[in-house]
Amino acid sequence: MRMHFHHAITNVAASIGAVIAISTASQKGGVGKTTLCINLAYSLARRGWRVLLVDTDPQGGVGLSLAKSTKSREGFYEYLVRGGDLARLVVTTRLPELEVMPAGQYDTCARSGWAIHEAPQRLADLLRAAELRGLDVVLFDTAAGLNGMSETVVKACDFVILPQQSEPLAIRSVPHMLETLARFRAEGAGVKVAGILLTMVMREHEMSLRVARELREMLPANLMFQQSIPRLPSFLDASALGVPVALTRRNPPPEALIFDQIAADLEQRTGMAAQRERNQPHASLLD
Ligand SMILES: Nc1ncnc2c1ncn2[C@@H]1O[C@H](COP(=O)(O)OP(=O)(O)OP(=O)(O)O)[C@@H](O)[C@H]1O
Ligand SMILES: [Mg+2]
Repeated sequence: MRMHFHHAITNVAASIGAVIAISTASQKGGVGKTTLCINLAYSLARRGWRVLLVDTDPQGGVGLSLAKSTKSREGFYEYLVRGGDLARLVVTTRLPELEVMPAGQYDTCARSGWAIHEAPQRLADLLRAAELRGLDVVLFDTAAGLNGMSETVVKACDFVILPQQSEPLAIRSVPHMLETLARFRAEGAGVKVAGILLTMVMREHEMSLRVARELREMLPANLMFQQSIPRLPSFLDASALGVPVALTRRNPPPEALIFDQIAADLEQRTGMAAQRERNQPHASLLD
């Protein structure tokens, strides 16, 4: 009986494939990480991926408005301290493919004398639990800065997306960011840069466009996402509601489509698209 059970688990694991862990990161605060996470998680879920959006920012309020119920105040930090059943700490949303793990209470860690060196193992446990839950992608929103918890989270991921404001400082801060990530890899982390994504681009503004152009010239081809996120008031409205921009109106505004394109690009960059092909070898016959 026992062997039978074990066998079944192995089969499930083989059919679902490994979960892909993706994090955002930025040196500076307020560059649009959380906005990206909420909108990208939504687009990926709409495209059929089973997504868990994890808020690792103690100040963060990701997705509680996305959730069907906000009664759970526990989340990521409780998981770090106690581990345990992932299902208890994730909240469902109106999209069946999208689940959210709120940040929970950072104080839980502080009070319990928990130490950050325990975090890598817990993160590995979280990803394994997500895999057994049948999830395809775990997307981590991080606090600004590449130290402390954000460093630990990025190091635990397969890929990191770097949102970058289109401002003159970017010419210096992007190389610095890439050096930091190279150091993480030298220290043994497997994390790869999925891409640099320009945010809050003012499409009519000469400076904003010039920085975008200079960055594209300066960086290796394809390191930057083709798409960029424009600065628009609709993103402020969406943040105030805590929802993806697609859900702010009955008919999604055009900027919602940008995240579908970013999601499609990300699928190529991370190998998710190839994984889908492998899992659905006959899809083309059914189209
Ligand atoms: N493309 C955009 N256009 C206009 N406003 C935006 C855009 N993206 C984000 N914002 C606004 O800028 C502010 C910061 O965005 P957001 O919270 O996504 O950044 P963040 O990088 O997560 O910040 P933090 O580092 O504090 O976590 C929010 O008020 C948000 O509504
Ligand atoms: Mg944020």
